[in-house]
Amino acid sequence: MLDTGFSESRLPHEGVLAILAPSDGAPSALYAQADAATDGALSRAAKAADFSFAAKASCVVLAPGAGLDRVVLIGLGPRDGIDARVAEQAGGAIASALGKVAARATVALDTLSGGLAAHVALGAVLGAYRFDSYRTTWREGEAWKLEGLEFVGADPAGAKAAWTPLSAVARGVLLCRDLVNEPANMLRPDTFEARITKLRDLGVEVEVLDRDAMHKLGFGALLGVGQGSSVPPRTVIMRWNGGAEGEAPVAFIGKGVTFDSGGISIKPAGGMEEMKTDMGGAAAVVGTIAALAGRKARVNAVGVVGLVENMLSGDAQRPGDVVRTASGQTVEVLNTDAEGRLVLADVLWYAQERFRPRFMVDLATLTGAIVVSLGNERAGLFSNDDTLAQQLATTGEGVGDRLWRMPMCASYLELLRSDIADLKNIGGRAGGSITAAKFLECFVNKVPWAHLDIAGTAFAHKGTACVPKGATGFGVRLLDALVREHYEG
Ligand code: BES
Ligand code: MN
Ligand code: ZN
Repeated sequence: MLDTGFSESRLPHEGVLAILAPSDGAPSALYAQADAATDGALSRAAKAADFSFAAKASCVVLAPGAGLDRVVLIGLGPRDGIDARVAEQAGGAIASALGKVAARATVALDTLSGGLAAHVALGAVLGAYRFDSYRTTWREGEAWKLEGLEFVGADPAGAKAAWTPLSAVARGVLLCRDLVNEPANMLRPDTFEARITKLRDLGVEVEVLDRDAMHKLGFGALLGVGQGSSVPPRTVIMRWNGGAEGEAPVAFIGKGVTFDSGGISIKPAGGMEEMKTDMGGAAAVVGTIAALAGRKARVNAVGVVGLVENMLSGDAQRPGDVVRTASGQTVEVLNTDAEGRLVLADVLWYAQERFRPRFMVDLATLTGAIVVSLGNERAGLFSNDDTLAQQLATTGEGVGDRLWRMPMCASYLELLRSDIADLKNIGGRAGGSITAAKFLECFVNKVPWAHLDIAGTAFAHKGTACVPKGATGFGVRLLDALVREHYEG
């Protein structure tokens, strides 16, 4: 993670400087000072480039004088519109502008409050993320250089205080991205478990259910998905106990299919590599628990993830097989590629029965159909509880993990009736993300529950300022903020 420091406003005498400034009102003091020190080079460059300090815009000025190698002007837009999101985008713009050219830079924060300053840092840290541990050669100008930013502004103490919890959230997002970006030969159920076990350093209790334990619990659906892989599946339980003793926990459940070949109902070759990201729900749960523990959230939270590889072999599950779930309901597996719902069926049931949570939210890269419905802009939100759904939708807008609520009418369930078992695992092409959600609902009793279908949002083929291309970390900020806004204290 990028190094960050906060200190009093001052003009550096050398190196690289980024200056944040709004598009209206008095020019920021440090901008005026730097402009004077460079004999007006900055304002001349801004004028020549028609740069108006609009939000997200930036303007690079090379060797303007006063010993500076490079100054980047970053727009904040109108002063009264500067909120946490604008601050984060500005941070992301700094990372984009300097990432490949400077190792360190000073960032002048204008008159931003300490709280907003911390969000600039968050945007910069998220935007400066790169997954390049497997690259050994680079073309000129391609490698990431930026290592640290020193933020100078009006309220360094306030910024530091606000950054402490936000940095824990940033770490959770980056952990989630690292897990999702990891190729599937490197991250299988066993190695994924090992990565989760590291959360013990943060005070998280980690417990593992191996194949025998899951067999005893009757996890026939999850075990059926994993039976074709040479690495046995496991369910991993994380507990962060930061709340009152005995208080019911909030529960987060994740689909952790470390690779989804489709099984015997094999997927087409084109794009199959993206199925290394089919554990994006589990990664978001791990990132969320890391964030909550890292900032010592005053809440009891459990995370439960089903880790399994959906592979082909002589032992692989066949289309037409019938499995018995932990709930007792039987499922006819008509398509081995509709495996996520089979994994979640057992894990949801288990989490509900064992922990009696205040609510459950599951995250899963569950259906291609949700990508058809909502594209890559929003995740599908399915819920049996209007309050929880509303909280998630509103919180998501605030942190940029955007959701869209989908219908859950009883009639969709009719599409899942099997001729020989209680349910079949596919409902046909029509309404594919909804029938998947209705399937999950069969394994949830009275508890408030929401399902987030993140198939379109866990991985970005195109980057933005705060979300470079690749794994997005979708869900971590959302669930952390959900807890902070509604379930803490
Ligand atoms: N993991 C996939 C869904 C997916 C698609 C995730 C695209 C990320 C990007 C899931 O297991 C799957 O294969 N779903 C099938 C269900 C169908 C067989 C009913 C699908 O969406 O085609
Ligand atoms: Mn599948
Ligand atoms: Zn899948």
